[in-house]
Amino acid sequence: MESRRKALWVLSVVLLVSNWQHWTYGKAVPQVPCYFVFGDSLFDNGNNNYLSTPAKVNYLPYGIDFDTGASGRCSNGLNIADTIAEQLGFDSYISDFGVGGCTNFLDGVNYGSNGAGILDSTGSLAGELFTMNIQLYNHNITVSRIAKILGSEEVARKYLSQCIFFLYSNPVYYK
Ligand SMILES: *[C@@H]1O[C@H](CO)[C@@H](O)[C@H](O)[C@H]1NC(C)=O
Repeated sequence: MESRRKALWVLSVVLLVSNWQHWTYGKAVPQVPCYFVFGDSLFDNGNNNYLSTPAKVNYLPYGIDFDTGASGRCSNGLNIADTIAEQLGFDSYISDFGVGGCTNFLDGVNYGSNGAGILDSTGSLAGELFTMNIQLYNHNITVSRIAKILGSEEVARKYLSQCIFFLYSNPVYYK
């Protein structure tokens, strides 16, 4: 009994210490400083909400298991971008770029758009969307913002080189 209690105690210390690096002042420290996402409906976390398109899902039952309800994710709960952010240790999901109002961009930005593919024409039958070219254009805006905050393009480049960039796209998708 005594040795079992000792083993449990040792185990809790080991668990505590092994998790220590992830916690400073109760805030999770992610494995990378930022995570950028380019993609389609598997990743869109609300970007299409801003657009005139039937290809948006900001109504129930989408989001029925998500903590803030329907958000524009093509999912009942988390989407793939959220799960990756969680696994990387971010304490919140990566912000959507939307139509440019994103202010929390130092953690990364999610540009994903429901219906997007490699081609500009992909998904266009379904209405407006952020094509891959627009997503890249939007990222350019984010890069300028980061350079402005960090002081120079050089510092921004160094910062961004530590980040994860994730791009997913169907080659042709309901074109
Ligand atoms: C990216 O932004 C910079 C300004 O920060 C601009 O000079 C450049 O032309 C932009 N590139 C593209 C491809 O839009």
